[in-house]
Amino acid sequence: MDFEDNKAFGEVHGIPMYKDFVKYWDDVETFQARPDDLVIVTYPKSGTTWLSEIVYMIYKEDDVEKCKEDAIFNRVPYLECRKEEKMNGVKQLQEMDSPRIVKTHLPAKLLPGSFWENNCKIIYLSRNAKDVAVSYYYFFLMITEFPDPESFPKFVEKFMEGKVPYGSWYDHVKAWWEKRNNPQMLYIFYEDMKEDIRKEVIKLMKFLGRKPSEELVDKIIKHTSFQEMKNNPSTNYTTLPEEMMNQRVSPFMRKGISGDWKNHFTVAMNERFDTHYEQQMKDSTLKFRTEI
Ligand code: A3P
Repeated sequence: MDFEDNKAFGEVHGIPMYKDFVKYWDDVETFQARPDDLVIVTYPKSGTTWLSEIVYMIYKEDDVEKCKEDAIFNRVPYLECRKEEKMNGVKQLQEMDSPRIVKTHLPAKLLPGSFWENNCKIIYLSRNAKDVAVSYYYFFLMITEFPDPESFPKFVEKFMEGKVPYGSWYDHVKAWWEKRNNPQMLYIFYEDMKEDIRKEVIKLMKFLGRKPSEELVDKIIKHTSFQEMKNNPSTNYTTLPEEMMNQRVSPFMRKGISGDWKNHFTVAMNERFDTHYEQQMKDSTLKFRTEI
């Protein structure tokens, strides 16, 4: 499939989306939330899996064995994920006992209304654009069905134009930022997690109404470290067949650092990106760190 012809993806309400997901969009829009649902929202490649595992561990009160019982994509279903009868996030969630943890990459305007009506708690995790672009590029390389991104510079152009699934990173992070003062919402950053994971885990526990005992926090930090998650089949996606995710091309748990963009952007690309970035972000108070 050619990335250039703009037909690689479908669209929902003007946002580029995987064609398989678009076919069943009604199921997503009419999804019935429950008041005790917790929603984890991210733009793709922002650390969703990391946050999901931390939250799951908080829910299971440090029971590592329970965390290893099943793959993360079954324990924390991906709401809009759909591939005919093979993958169906909505169905997985409907069949799940409460309390559910819901993963989604939806822009704020596309989150099913039921989550707002039920006043569900929402955690938004964001990560700086340059590292997201790098991580997304490698994701494109390893997902067999995705169009060939050709080269990193070409991919970055598409990313800047918002012609990738879930559309513009800029619009995504900004629109969710506007919702940050909603008492049901917590807005956090990947870079803060990298810098001081203890502080962020405590913040998450308090937001979820849990008492952050030192012992529990220690256990969560250990179990969700990059190395632990890389070696853990229930978090590293190695249980998916190679025809879907070719981890020999690039592992899902790739580097897990802040600032890897420096190894990928040339000086010229970086200048171009920064100029465009300022334009896109000038109407927002949202600030990112691109290294820590
Ligand atoms: P890199 O490709 O930069 O390594 P998502 O889960 O949203 O798809 O995000 C994937 C990114 O999060 C990848 O980034 C992955 O390595 C990183 N990641 C996953 N688990 C992590 C952890 N425990 N600590 C730090 N980064 C992690």
